Amino acid sequence: MSTFQAPKGTYDLTPPRSATFLAVREAISAPLRDSGYGYIETPGFENVELFARGVGESTDIVTKEMYTLTTKGGDQLALRPEGTASVLRAALEANLHKAGNLPVKLWYSGSYYRYERPQAGRYRHFSQVGAEAIGTEDPALDAELIILADQAYRSLGLRRFRILLNSLGDKECRPVYREALQTFLRDLDLDEETRRRIEINPLRVLDDKRADVQKQLTDAPKLRDYLCDACKAYHEEVRALLTAAGVAFEDDEKLVRGLDYYTRTTFEFVHDGLGSQSAVGGGGRYDGLSEMIGGPELPSVGWALGVDRTALALEAESVELDLPATTSVYAVPLGEEARRVLFGVVTELRRAGIAADFAFGGRGLKGAMKSANRSGARYTLVAGERDLAEGVVQLKDMESGEQSAVPLAEAAAELAKRLG
Ligand code: HAM
Repeated sequence: MSTFQAPKGTYDLTPPRSATFLAVREAISAPLRDSGYGYIETPGFENVELFARGVGESTDIVTKEMYTLTTKGGDQLALRPEGTASVLRAALEANLHKAGNLPVKLWYSGSYYRYERPQAGRYRHFSQVGAEAIGTEDPALDAELIILADQAYRSLGLRRFRILLNSLGDKECRPVYREALQTFLRDLDLDEETRRRIEINPLRVLDDKRADVQKQLTDAPKLRDYLCDACKAYHEEVRALLTAAGVAFEDDEKLVRGLDYYTRTTFEFVHDGLGSQSAVGGGGRYDGLSEMIGGPELPSVGWALGVDRTALALEAESVELDLPATTSVYAVPLGEEARRVLFGVVTELRRAGIAADFAFGGRGLKGAMKSANRSGARYTLVAGERDLAEGVVQLKDMESGEQSAVPLAEAAAELAKRLG
């Protein structure tokens, strides 16, 4: 194994591609910040218990994919496989739900870890931007979150994504459906593991990707037929609000999601250019999660969008993000005295809020101009001994190629003026 090799299922983000990831995080969080969501940050690991109780003992995430560890002090921890349980835990710990008006609206951005079989779009370390609205049962809140995610993707220029929508019912109607489904599934020809799944988490069987299983599921009882009146009305209202907002969605009865905490509204954003790992984001309502982890009743809803897959979706659609060059001015000194003087000008520019960089390392003019070009800077400042003797620097407009001598003392002000 080479020393210079990131662990299996992980990759590094390096320039210039890393700029896309920053832009994606920015684009996803901007609509949230504009809609009353406050930033929250929680540790990269939690007590294992939290995810076992929150995400669910029967889920793949908890049984197969969690990175767990025992500390030297004997604590059982897990690298966080998702954000919702952590954010709710933190909100309860800080009593945010008692501090003011509900819902508590929070957004987050960070690294998550799942021990999955790596493939294109599926990694063991990945990153999400997420949002949680805690403590309120209101279909407008579910709609708000879906609309904001749609807005985020559109602002990035993505078009080939679809929104899949479903309702999983609540604690009244889902158990009735669950039992009907179990009765149906027990009569099918299924392998041992799937039979076990029928007893623990029968809804997940509907999600089975195998054709021979799907064939047997054609006549399975439909959750839609079991939804109680309250769940039906709630779901209709979410659908109506989305429609009124002009956000297109597809009803998808098979949408079950891989986490146990969902109730009522569930949704997924899928992108059609990504092959099998097509879910770029997902979420839903989790009215029972607070109680599952030992808190009070706090009906909530949220989503998380995958930053890695969103970046892949941009590539699949050949979207070129309009990323402004990070450097506006590049300084090229010729000689020792010029180094000192131009380094001073660069410092002055930076203090004035102008992004500036410098040809470090005492390279020749040709190499330094190459770096200036690569930096994307709009202007270069070049100065040699003769310029300094005359008290000027050469200011070159990299777009027009025009060059003019500017008094040294006025260089920073002149650049500030030209850059607006
Ligand atoms: P999730 O569907 O498990 O939901 O993950 C959300 C998104 O994270 C996925 O749609 C995908 O883009 C990305 N993702 C998940 N696993 C991987 C992976 N192995 N490699 C790359 N990307 C991945 C949740 O995590 C819930 N906490 C969402 C939520 C928030 N529900 C309510 N509030």
